[in-house]
Amino acid sequence: MINPSQEIIDSAYVKDYEKLYTEVKENPEAFWENIAKELSWFKPWNKVLDWNYPYARWFVGGQCNIVNNALDRWQKTDVAEKKAYIWVAQDGTERTFTYKQLNDAVSRFANGLKSLGLKKGDRVSIYLPRIPEQFIAMLACAKIGVIHSVVFSGFSVDALKNRIVDAEAKVVICADGYPYKDKVVECKKNVDEAIENIKMATGGTPGRDPGSAQVTSTDGKDKAGQNLSQIEHVIVIKRAGNNIQMQPGRDIWYHELVAKQDPICSTVIMEATDPLFILYTSGSTGKPKGVIHSHGGYMVGTYSTLRWIFNLQPDDIYFCTADSGWITGHSYIVYSPLMNGATTFVYEGTPDYPDPGIWWRLVEKYKITKFYTAPTAIRALMRLGDEIPNKYDLSSLKILGTVGEPINPEAWLWYHRVIGKEKCPVMDTWWQTETGMMMISPLPASPLKAGSASKPFFGIETEIVDEKGNPAPVDTQGYLIIKKPWPSMLMDVYNNPKRYLETYFQNEAITNTQIFENKQFFYFTGDSAKKDADGYYWIVGRNDDVIKVSGHRLGSAELESAFVAHPSVAEAAVIGKPDEVKGEKIKAFIILKKDVQPSDQLKEELKQQVRKMIGPIATPDEIEFVDKLPKTRSGKIMRRVLKAQELGQPLGDTSTLEN
Ligand code: WT7
Repeated sequence: MINPSQEIIDSAYVKDYEKLYTEVKENPEAFWENIAKELSWFKPWNKVLDWNYPYARWFVGGQCNIVNNALDRWQKTDVAEKKAYIWVAQDGTERTFTYKQLNDAVSRFANGLKSLGLKKGDRVSIYLPRIPEQFIAMLACAKIGVIHSVVFSGFSVDALKNRIVDAEAKVVICADGYPYKDKVVECKKNVDEAIENIKMATGGTPGRDPGSAQVTSTDGKDKAGQNLSQIEHVIVIKRAGNNIQMQPGRDIWYHELVAKQDPICSTVIMEATDPLFILYTSGSTGKPKGVIHSHGGYMVGTYSTLRWIFNLQPDDIYFCTADSGWITGHSYIVYSPLMNGATTFVYEGTPDYPDPGIWWRLVEKYKITKFYTAPTAIRALMRLGDEIPNKYDLSSLKILGTVGEPINPEAWLWYHRVIGKEKCPVMDTWWQTETGMMMISPLPASPLKAGSASKPFFGIETEIVDEKGNPAPVDTQGYLIIKKPWPSMLMDVYNNPKRYLETYFQNEAITNTQIFENKQFFYFTGDSAKKDADGYYWIVGRNDDVIKVSGHRLGSAELESAFVAHPSVAEAAVIGKPDEVKGEKIKAFIILKKDVQPSDQLKEELKQQVRKMIGPIATPDEIEFVDKLPKTRSGKIMRRVLKAQELGQPLGDTSTLEN
């Protein structure tokens, strides 16, 4: 156990975790209601929680808008002149926004979106790199009740296309291009190609769409076959200044659109249970799922967690290295820090560019106090030795955080010692796209164990269970489940309630159907974990076919679809293998079509194929050509068996194995 210093304890909002946790457990709704009262509402709620299996609806009857809390409510206070964002470009150029300036920019853009006919409930895809306009675009949508769906800028054509189609977006917001190390990524081209592919798919047979090869759709219809000319406009932000083609009538420059707009725009009144955004995330099967989050509950959950876990103070400079293409950026770069009136620091580039000292140089220069990153980055920087961070003055740091995948004790200790100088507690925060907010994490005043995410946040009840749903003994690995609803819980899977039910509430891993029949709240996280004798949680990793590569969540099925789209490939099976830096790496087993000769050149071609379709983060590490794949009698590939074989582990139950 590593105990916090007196200084940390003195400054912490919560000093006695155990006491408050036990108190809140008695009445979590009262706890969340009190937090909700710290925020602004247009109309108070009638009911804190309405649980209607399998849906939890929070603050029912309440009216609000998250942007009212993120921006509007600061405008008549001192916070208006405070910096909301300090953004530093790859080349060191700085752009800052006060809360007032951010509010003006958001209002202008919101008016621009309105001028294009967008209204409450419409969907917009945001395909932007880590530039301030990414946040401005999200906030502008939310302000007028438009549902945003951010697509990580590192995704390629096919991944982008699938997300635009599934969300039924009318408008795409993108950049011309953006600097990435020494290159320019020409992302506008991806948008053009994605829209072109949508048109092709709608004009022809849905079967031609390779991405739909393994889709399990509730209605059996291919979405790509529905809406012929769904994209009305593409709004382009000039970032790289590269040559692009603007399609007249469809494409609009952002700077031209906002130049004409008024910096005043009224924030639309939303029901607490109205959707705020859709964010796609990978699951066990099929295409990524559109996770829906609300205005009201999401607001309350994200607001409070960052505040308490990072002990946010008015003079903090908080640096979160994530990208808003992922949930970490949504919750903890955009919405929560703004609702807390914090100053957030954002760096456009990667941790190794222009050199691997960049983050520490930025910490020194901008006097960063709170720093939140991912284990994969810590491991990569740790490998380069202590010398690089030791060159910089990191004494401004007070609290460190990590998220995205399990952190091994060695990396944890290095982070704590070399970056935090043994005075900054490390908040290992466990959560998911679906949870919206941090769920299991230490608090600054908690005693820490290197490599453990510690204990659940207030009002969160977690458990480790076996396949029958019974609590697992101490130190025994089992399924991590959640036993009570929480405010920023996902509302549904967009256009796929069946998948919502079957993934989170009636997961086939749990064999005790009594739980389902009783309509018990029993949220299945998809993670395996252990709990030790002190009640500390140790996350082991995913227990489904989700692979975490450098903290990025990828589904085996979507990777396999990309392989199968290649003319030489008959069948593909993809697994995750342990990797020292990335956490997991991708290995694919490929059955080639008859008469196709295996070769190294073909392997390279297949890697490029997946990269081109999904994105560089999905580039496979290993490819093996095989004649057969282990399958169940019903023809499902048993990736679990492949993985056990690959890692030389016991094969487990193979009674359903066909061959
Ligand atoms: C999955 C969710 C939540 C923001 C980024 C990831 C893994 C997340 C931790 C942690 C061990 C973690 C889990 C989880 N994960 N945080 N602190 N320790 N594992 O969101 O992409 O939805 O992925 O990330 O496996 O299920 P996501």
